[in-house]
Amino acid sequence: MEKKFKRTLVTSALPYANGPVHIGHLAGVYVPADIYVRYLRLKKEDVIFIGGSDEHGVPITILARKEGVSPQDIVDRYHSLIKKSFEDFGISFDIYSRTTSKIHAETASAFFKTLYDKGVFVEKETEQYYDEEAGQFLADRYIVGECPHCHNPRAYGDQCEVCGTSLSELDLINPRSTISGGKLVLKKTKHWYLPLDKYQQWLSEWILDGHKEWRPNVYGQCKSWLDMGLQPRAVSRDLDWGIPVPVEGAEGKVLYVWFDAPIGYISNTKELMPDSWEKWWKDPETRLVHFIGKDNIVFHCIVFPTMLKAEGSYILPDNVPANEFLNLEGDKISTSKNWAVWLHEYLADFPGKQDVLRYVLTANAPETKDNDFTWKDFQARNNNELVAVYGNFINRTMVLTHKYFDGVVPESAGLTDYDRKTLEEFSAVKGEMERLLDVFKFRDAQKEAMNLARIGNKYLADMEPWKLAKTDMQRVATVMNVCLQIAANLSIAFEPFLPFSAKKLRDMLNMDFCDWSLLGHADILAAGHKLNAAELLFEKIDDEPIERQMKRLEDIKKANAEANYRANPVKKDIEFDDFLKLDIRVGTVLECVKVPKADKLLQFTIDDGLGKRTIVSGIAKHYKPEELVGKQVCFIANLPPRKLKGIVSEGMILSAEDYDGSLSVITPLRNVKPGSEVK
Ligand code: MF3
Ligand code: ZN
Repeated sequence: MEKKFKRTLVTSALPYANGPVHIGHLAGVYVPADIYVRYLRLKKEDVIFIGGSDEHGVPITILARKEGVSPQDIVDRYHSLIKKSFEDFGISFDIYSRTTSKIHAETASAFFKTLYDKGVFVEKETEQYYDEEAGQFLADRYIVGECPHCHNPRAYGDQCEVCGTSLSELDLINPRSTISGGKLVLKKTKHWYLPLDKYQQWLSEWILDGHKEWRPNVYGQCKSWLDMGLQPRAVSRDLDWGIPVPVEGAEGKVLYVWFDAPIGYISNTKELMPDSWEKWWKDPETRLVHFIGKDNIVFHCIVFPTMLKAEGSYILPDNVPANEFLNLEGDKISTSKNWAVWLHEYLADFPGKQDVLRYVLTANAPETKDNDFTWKDFQARNNNELVAVYGNFINRTMVLTHKYFDGVVPESAGLTDYDRKTLEEFSAVKGEMERLLDVFKFRDAQKEAMNLARIGNKYLADMEPWKLAKTDMQRVATVMNVCLQIAANLSIAFEPFLPFSAKKLRDMLNMDFCDWSLLGHADILAAGHKLNAAELLFEKIDDEPIERQMKRLEDIKKANAEANYRANPVKKDIEFDDFLKLDIRVGTVLECVKVPKADKLLQFTIDDGLGKRTIVSGIAKHYKPEELVGKQVCFIANLPPRKLKGIVSEGMILSAEDYDGSLSVITPLRNVKPGSEVK
């Protein structure tokens, strides 16, 4: 860490309190944040770790309505569950609070008022749909109606999934509420907007010039937002769940959840340190680091910094190490599809095995790209790495010391060249780990710690003290002394990653301290020091519990497939002639670009065999244009041309829609000539 900072304030995204937390949360945000904080604490740096639940927002009100309880009931339930899961997994927050606390309402309200008084916001009146039955305004994704283009009766307020057109809720014919099913009326409503466009220049300089060291995924996402041009964002909503907008004429309006939630970091710091919180948020010698998932990048790198900058007295984040996503057995984790491994369920099935999950999630951390969690990999990493390498080394070291030296650290009788070489190797681990941890490369850093155990294992296997014991006890004493020093090192090196087993190891070694500065030292345990009894650090995991987990996922998959057919029943039979009327062909994508001012549309130029054909398709949320150039796609060739955003589209590109709504373009398995018919 650069010298200019005196202290580090670490935050991790506040999870929504509308469901339990799963392995994706842990891998993406909380384990990396916890590793980093534990590391800084071990180095005796001044650090605090702020967490909490995000308890506002529309989805919480919808869940409450569905269950017939109050939003407060929902957040009370999930806040406790989430808090307990984090405690169980050793996520070492200094505070884990919530955005329904009194101090948070005061803090967020005052923050808004300051910006309001400074004239930061732009006020705008718009017309929005109001659900009279539910008594509330609705966001576009809660509105369905008939598509004005293809007359699909269930188009959403933001997009028609049948013809792919991106819509505004005002385009829908006969709009209805998905919440109450009732009719909607247009009503005028006023909101306050944060004019991000006015901060565009400043943000570009601050991020693109000033923070080139941010992870490429974070930097790249910021750059693409900035390149597109920032728009003002509404920071208030018409809703009865949230923090009231603290100005006159704002009855029935609350702060937008993404306005209040990041202020939760500040409120929770205040709650933790009522007297000294300001030094953590306002002193330029404090370094602010936000751990988040990739879906939160724009809020933490663009929106929240703009709020802080506009307020004027706060520091800005120094780094935002966002992770990509963790998938589960090849599919995107989804709370609504129950496609997840819930932390509380994991612990019920694998009691005491927190560190195994922490280890596997860090080994597979989605630091640079999306990654996959599989139960087979979980089992293999436990059995082949934790048990066979780390656990095995510790167990042999403990058992042999008890056997030959009554559990007392023997005195070294002089090192051989090989001993020295081994010690040199492991003394290099500290510098290597620091280099990686300082730049948030946790998976590589954990590999280094595991390497230390490998060094120990190899040393033990090469020295074979159980054979030496027949001839040369002095040599055995030296070998076991070296092994015990490596064991003591492991208890330090693994502390940030696997705190439960590191503690267990220190208990066995009878070490009541853990000090990063000792890492790499070969004299941590003095000769004559008495060890405690040996215990197994890790246990082998058999096939049976793994198969049970895989079976559970299979069952969920089946249930989801059935639910998909219930939601989208097979359409009624058609005549074969009807099918023959459809002309589907293959084309090769020559060009693909985003349609300006339409965030869902891509414009394709396709070689259809005869020439170039233009097709506009609503898949911009699912593909980057460059991913599709050169690929073959299937399109309907005999639809009447249609104008979309001023572009004449000559056909429709076919995609498969996954249960979660994500689209995958249909392509022939082998390349064929453009213009080939699909039949
Ligand atoms: N609740 C949000 C999510 O889960 C994260 C909020 S982070 C904070 O995506 F900055 F707003 F706190
Ligand atoms: Zn349509």
